[in-house]
Amino acid sequence: MISKTQEDNRVASAAAHPEDTQLELTLRPRTLTEYIGQSHIKEGLRIFIDAAKGRGESLEHVLLYGPPGLGKTTLAHIIARELGVNIRVTSGPAIERSGDLAAILSNLQDGDVLFIDEIHRLNKTIEEVLYPAMEEGGIDIVVGQGPSARMLRLDLPHFTLVGATTRMSLLSSPLRDRFGAIYRLDFYDENEIEQILHRAGGILNIAIESDSCHILAQRSRRTPRIALRLLKRVRDVAQMRHGNVISIPAVEEALRLMNIDTHGLDLIDRQILHMIIQKFGGGPVGIGTISAATNEEASTIEDVIEPYLLQCGLLMRTPKGRVATELAYAHLGIGVPATQPQKKLL
Ligand SMILES: Nc1ncnc2c1ncn2[C@@H]1O[C@H](COP(=O)(O)OP(=O)(O)O)[C@@H](O)[C@H]1O
Ligand SMILES: [Mg+2]
Repeated sequence: MISKTQEDNRVASAAAHPEDTQLELTLRPRTLTEYIGQSHIKEGLRIFIDAAKGRGESLEHVLLYGPPGLGKTTLAHIIARELGVNIRVTSGPAIERSGDLAAILSNLQDGDVLFIDEIHRLNKTIEEVLYPAMEEGGIDIVVGQGPSARMLRLDLPHFTLVGATTRMSLLSSPLRDRFGAIYRLDFYDENEIEQILHRAGGILNIAIESDSCHILAQRSRRTPRIALRLLKRVRDVAQMRHGNVISIPAVEEALRLMNIDTHGLDLIDRQILHMIIQKFGGGPVGIGTISAATNEEASTIEDVIEPYLLQCGLLMRTPKGRVATELAYAHLGIGVPATQPQKKLL
């Protein structure tokens, strides 16, 4: 069974760990030029930002979505820096009352970026305060009580809302419609992850042999956060057992100690695939059933674990539930039952 603590400690999890904070701050690219990959987003943002700056206007609201660890928070900071304005950081669950949001908004300076992480978790009443703020640059507050209560319009400084979400489908359409630009972050290719690792090696003063870098990139679930975390673990193993050189044997040993396989899957990923195949004949299995059988929250499976399994073609989503593909059988070394030809990966 997978416990919450297990998920928190997974090396191969794309979710942020508390221990990542310092490392991520050091390694976070600060400008669009330093930001590796996601070239369609960089190109779009460059024009969008320069045009707004050229007109002397604040940037329209931007929504960033995609699986965890791909660089949404980093991009939000870059947007503010490129605009030359301050950024105020908060998150959907952190804003509990509409008064909290009103206070944040009225304290912004002209042109500032307000970054709301996990914006899909904003509650509905607060979302409604946000609409006029995004659209008309004001909020309506109730002054007084009872029969003498009246609405007062409070004008706000111009600001750019940057929202980030791992779950676009949970965002209400009125909120979605109020963003001027929506960007979807994709998994990186291995070459880009190698560049991110080399850049990190340079900053942390770690020499990474290019063959080792290649292997690390293959095992990083195409996710920068995981690549950087693996690099940190490999550095420890290299220091203790391999004369401080990030060589292939050092990488192989570290990955073996972390139980990370050739696809970058760890024990939990493999446990889920095994369960679908062995307990449920390969699926389809509903996410609720997978959640109950693994004792892992459905939202964690959907946000953190599943996107990469889908991306690798090990898992498929069907209207009836998740299905393990032939690739999953092959990867785990299990024969595909002859009675299930419909589960072929198309
Ligand atoms: N395009 C990139 N180039 C270089 N490093 C990146 C890139 N995207 C992300 N990173 C690194 O990965 C870490 C995780 O990114 P983050 O922005 O926190 O992801 P998200 O907010 O999507 O979960 C960052 O600290 C940063 O160091
Ligand atoms: Mg983030």
